[in-house]
Amino acid sequence: MAVYRSLAFATFAFMMIELATGQKTCSLAEESIRDGITAAFNDEFSVNTGVLWMFDFDELDENCDDCGNANPASTYGCPRFQVSNARARGRPTVRRVRSSSGVDDEEKSLPRLDAPNIELAKTVTASSRDGVLPLSCEWPLRSDEVVVLFGCTPDSMAYFGLTPYLYRVGAEESLVFASIGDSLSMAEMRRDADNNVAFSRLNTETSRIATGTIYRSSSAPWNSAFALVMGTNRAVLEKVANVLSAQGVPVNAFGVPAPLTGDSGRETYTILLRGAVPVYPDKWQAWQRSPPMSALRLRLKAPVASDPFQPHSLIPRQTVDEMVLLQTHDALVRQVSAHVSNMPGRSAVVSPSPRPQTSTENSMPCVLARVNCGGDNRDTMYIRSLSFTLPEDGIAYAIGSRHVASGNAHYASLAAYNSARRLAVVSVEDDVLRGSARGWIADAAADDLYVIAFARNCSAHDVAAPCVHLPSSGFPAVAVDEVIELWERPYSTLGTTVGPWWRTMILPTVVRSVPAPPPPPTWSWSWTSF
Ligand SMILES: *[C@@H]1O[C@H](CO)[C@@H](O)[C@H](O)[C@H]1NC(C)=O
Repeated sequence: MAVYRSLAFATFAFMMIELATGQKTCSLAEESIRDGITAAFNDEFSVNTGVLWMFDFDELDENCDDCGNANPASTYGCPRFQVSNARARGRPTVRRVRSSSGVDDEEKSLPRLDAPNIELAKTVTASSRDGVLPLSCEWPLRSDEVVVLFGCTPDSMAYFGLTPYLYRVGAEESLVFASIGDSLSMAEMRRDADNNVAFSRLNTETSRIATGTIYRSSSAPWNSAFALVMGTNRAVLEKVANVLSAQGVPVNAFGVPAPLTGDSGRETYTILLRGAVPVYPDKWQAWQRSPPMSALRLRLKAPVASDPFQPHSLIPRQTVDEMVLLQTHDALVRQVSAHVSNMPGRSAVVSPSPRPQTSTENSMPCVLARVNCGGDNRDTMYIRSLSFTLPEDGIAYAIGSRHVASGNAHYASLAAYNSARRLAVVSVEDDVLRGSARGWIADAAADDLYVIAFARNCSAHDVAAPCVHLPSSGFPAVAVDEVIELWERPYSTLGTTVGPWWRTMILPTVVRSVPAPPPPPTWSWSWTSF
């Protein structure tokens, strides 16, 4: 049992490191240990070894037309394999309807949400020329196949999660990019030095939990070993889980329920990994550059009988009612528009965010209707503002509720997107919003609200609030004639650990400064009275 011995030795070595540094070390950090575990599958399975591909904002093509909702503040990855029937790299085959103004027609367009673009992980099809199979994060999952992702969670961050997706469905291969159940995630909220709140729905060596239960502590299981196994057949998935368990690896078994396995044999799947707001950005960067994770596609050598999974039950969303803040919010909007109207030669335009929002509560409707769910994640929802443009001398304020204060998020961000290019230009976290409304209204509820400005040149205005520079050129940027959308992303209420729902939430209002209309004439003449 060479594997066992090397594991035992490694455990001993890590204990010594722990003693020396006081730091916990993940037992699967070493590639050689993970390779030993991989070798244990060889008897029963044929093994296709992949990698965890990570999106790198810095490598994004600056001229991208569809930048895949790239956001410098959060990133994603997916297990990538050599796949024989991978599609050529390109834009997803979805209908996208635009009105002549270039702004999406709300009625006809598909939800765009915050979908990461896994097409960026595809390599150009080279198979016919040099016999090399293309790499892709989009893979089929036959009933005798299981995808395994195992290794170590990263160091402390606000949110880390893994979400299995149905990517394409049916003989026509419709893109649905729909989550399959709740994400396996963990999160930590730093209230102050001695008051951390954390949860994990991922079973790791630090958070040993049964499937479907929640671990709660003052710290999430960072730097901790785990495995995620995904399959469509219970017996095959169990075999894989048993091999991992026998080697001491905490398993998270994710069965794809029968209705989502389709009948065309052409379904494809993916797993998306998301991480946001690292406490130590350099450690997170190192994790991304060389993820301490292994990715395998296993195919059982023996024939297999049908053994489908039942559908998952979903964690019900619960939302704190923010409507108690509405009067204070409205007073704040009036204050901000008065401030804008007092700027020389300017007046204010007030635009509340549209209701209803286009998010989906869960992905089932997308799957049934064969529309793009946009990589939805039940740990959050995407609140979208009315779209607007910002001239060189422009300033726009966003006024909203701090969902972290209301309890509707353990972490929340507000990002300004270049709408047409699907590119986040800037993103701010709650710590920027905290206290921002205090100077505007004398009300105890002021701390639960925020005021933030977006401008081309923050020092050119009497801003009186935190101000975010929105560049009109360079990269990333949104030009003066390009449409801007603000997106709020409230993640995981502390009560449920999944995201809130917009209906009882205050959605942001945008107050823009525009040139004041010429003064009204002192007399009027109406021809219609003749
Ligand atoms: C921004 O505005 C300030 C104040 O009007 C001005 O001095 C400065 O040159 C402006 N910066 C740019 C880049 O236009």
